[in-house]
Amino acid sequence: MAPADQTGKTISDDTASRLLAWYDVHHRELPWRVTPREHARGARPDPYRIWLSEVMLQQTTVEAVKSYFRAFVEKWPDVEALAAAPTEDVMKAWAGLGYYSRARNLKACADLVAARGGRFPDTEVALRDLPGIGAYTSAAITAIAFDRPAAVVDGNVERVISRLFSITTPLSEAKGEIRVHVERMVPATRPGDFAQAMMDLGATICTPRRPRCMLCPLREDCSVVVSGDPEHFPVRLPKADKPRRRGAAFVAVRGDGAILLRKRPDKGLLGGMTEVPTTAWTARIDGATTEAAAPFPANWRCEGQIAHVFTHFALELDVFRAEVDSAAPAGHFWSLAHEISGEALPTVMKKAIEAAIPGATKKPRPH
Ligand code: ADE
Repeated sequence: MAPADQTGKTISDDTASRLLAWYDVHHRELPWRVTPREHARGARPDPYRIWLSEVMLQQTTVEAVKSYFRAFVEKWPDVEALAAAPTEDVMKAWAGLGYYSRARNLKACADLVAARGGRFPDTEVALRDLPGIGAYTSAAITAIAFDRPAAVVDGNVERVISRLFSITTPLSEAKGEIRVHVERMVPATRPGDFAQAMMDLGATICTPRRPRCMLCPLREDCSVVVSGDPEHFPVRLPKADKPRRRGAAFVAVRGDGAILLRKRPDKGLLGGMTEVPTTAWTARIDGATTEAAAPFPANWRCEGQIAHVFTHFALELDVFRAEVDSAAPAGHFWSLAHEISGEALPTVMKKAIEAAIPGATKKPRPH
């Protein structure tokens, strides 16, 4: 029998077994995943694919990641191939996924692992020494790629545990408590499937809104099934409003449809990504920007505004457009119309370009 929990609740030995039995039938099919059936036939996860997927899944949804993951493994099927790729190509392939420091760290990590013989370490401690791998990702790779016990705690798992134990401490302060619960639950056998089962349970049954408690394999262990208010958990402190910033973006278009771009500095927000020229993004939100802020004189016309929400602030940009037929100024380059969709443009920049030239960032259709 597992030890009684501080809350007085006892998680029985077979909690993990019931979860695994549910997972055997109801797991999601994901492009990086080795399913229980494939596992039983001798297939083993490829640490490269698990690492790549887990880095992509940091702060990004499974649905958004799938197509990026497929494109990456098609282009770069192993860590040596990714290490051999130019950083610029990796940034281009990452464009649109957000949190671009992940892409730079991904490349740095691939370079290091390839230089050390191409094998990923198989312990949490050794994995954490690699660029871009923190507590969550090292635990996920240890469990999923190497089937070693590790407490894998993402947002889904936090929700499941908060409900199982009716944790009333606000989530931001309950992380340690949640981790202890997960550590106690991780089974000695199939810890990798257990980690994935917890995530699938959170994503498909123990959902933020209208959880499907009637279908939950952990129903009999769960304290909120009795209280009947699962949506109340996890408890969260009220969110502070994000600060707002404003600026202007300048879309210069050449007669042949090329657009003037430049690369952002490697360090900082959207580091190393490509952009149209913009002003600084400042906290001054009074009044609109004008063409006087443009990087060079031209017949700039305001085409509208776009909004984009970053982790730490919300941005509004006035978007200006001008027809310009001169050579690119220093530090800028003309991107041809058919090349724009392949540039390392973050979503905010795609929005700005689309506001000035609808359709410009979409992939050209094959004839
Ligand atoms: N979210 C993060 N990692 C995941 C995984 N391996 N499976 C499903 N959802 C996830």
